[in-house]
Amino acid sequence: MDSLTYHIITFGCQMNEADSDLMASLLERAGWRPSDSRDNADLILINTCSVREKPEHKVHSLLGELRPHKLARPRTVIAVAGCMAQREGDRLLRRAPHVDIVLGTRWFHHIDDLVARVRAGDRPIIALEMEEDPSSVRARNDLAQQPAPLRAFLPIIRGCSNFCSYCIVPYVRGREASRPVAEVVREVNGLVGRGTREVTLLGQNVLAYGRDLPDAPTFDHLLSRLDGIDGLWRIRFTTCHPRDVSDDLISALADLPSVCEHIHLPIQAGADRILAAMNRGYTTDRYLGIVGRLRNAVPGIAITTDIMVGFPGEAEEEFEESLRLYERIRFGGAFMFAYSPRPGTAAAEREDQIPRDIRLARLHKLIDLQNRITLARNHAGVGEEAEVLVDGPAQRGDGLLAGRARNNKQVIFPGPPSIAGSLVKVTLIEAHLWGFRGQLSE
Ligand code: SAH
Ligand code: SF4
Ligand code: F3S
Repeated sequence: MDSLTYHIITFGCQMNEADSDLMASLLERAGWRPSDSRDNADLILINTCSVREKPEHKVHSLLGELRPHKLARPRTVIAVAGCMAQREGDRLLRRAPHVDIVLGTRWFHHIDDLVARVRAGDRPIIALEMEEDPSSVRARNDLAQQPAPLRAFLPIIRGCSNFCSYCIVPYVRGREASRPVAEVVREVNGLVGRGTREVTLLGQNVLAYGRDLPDAPTFDHLLSRLDGIDGLWRIRFTTCHPRDVSDDLISALADLPSVCEHIHLPIQAGADRILAAMNRGYTTDRYLGIVGRLRNAVPGIAITTDIMVGFPGEAEEEFEESLRLYERIRFGGAFMFAYSPRPGTAAAEREDQIPRDIRLARLHKLIDLQNRITLARNHAGVGEEAEVLVDGPAQRGDGLLAGRARNNKQVIFPGPPSIAGSLVKVTLIEAHLWGFRGQLSE
């Protein structure tokens, strides 16, 4: 008999991508195979995101499209996992009764068993409890990513305990839960043994790593342990909360050879009153101080960020003040968003919401500014030689290869496919918003 096939659609952050990879591994271990098309898959699994309205809308319309599909093919299992599944729970089933499984954020590692139950006739299943022992999540993480990719993404801490006033993540992902140092080191060793050369450590705030563990190991301690692994060329991590940047972290960035010169340090807003209302726990002065220390200690470091505009009560003057700050800092790149009210969060309850058209106008103004800065900074890099880890053939362009510099910039250059997976020197010859075109150095 042909094996059963699955199709996964993932929304949201890199953590969700990592969770989807893990679910894929679990399904494959249970004999399932990936299906290139949604339409003839035996399992359609949607891993969802709740951080803004838009990704939630997309899931609702996707579920709408799947309703006739399920009628025509009732044996197809439809599962909704992740943050929106956690948030909506059985409301999701009321709106979309053709969904078979609603799988919360601490349950994704049971996907294989739950799908088997549905196929045996037990439906619908709603699994949302947060109490689920995170150690079982830890154990099954080891199954992920076989065979190992050149660049692996590894959750080291799940959940978030920060409660920024606009953010849904702590509600849908639960409190911070770190994986023990020995377990992370063992997993990275395993990945490197199977060919991984770069790891990106993932967490909503990796700098909170270890606080919840016995002995409270720090994130920089974890970095120093991983730096010693033979065959691991590069270590990256994301995201960092500015409040938790320590001198030890800056030293790790400066001194550990495999730790790449890049930090993603979401600022969110550039006016102190707004930062306070967001419950971010730092001021613009403090943020500027961190940027100064990082740039002094780590030559060439790329500092990228997340910025949100139109937080409730943000005055036009505060928005302008923020733009002036971003012009001063000159981020290497930024993810930029218009504030989106999330039901249940403190900010969504406020009465001074900014009208949508104003939020969007501010967003476009910010994007214009940051694009100019990103492009100008990239132009300044032309002529330099970068160490590039070669991913393989570029998505478009004949005979072109794509890879990343240590500062995480994308570099595209002509070269033989045989150098995929190796480190090469590339001279940067042309700057774009997305990165560089380059030429292999002699
Ligand atoms: N843990 C990360 C952020 C995860 S969410 C951190 O604290 O940096 C990714 C980004 O989405 C956030 O940095 C923020 O800029 C944006 N975001 C979060 N909630 C949002 C909301 N309600 N509306 C718009 N953007 C939001
Ligand atoms: Fe959300 Fe703040 Fe936690 Fe980031 S640190 S996930 S923005 S609550
Ligand atoms: Fe979205 Fe959940 Fe990630 S809300 S950004 S998928 S943690």
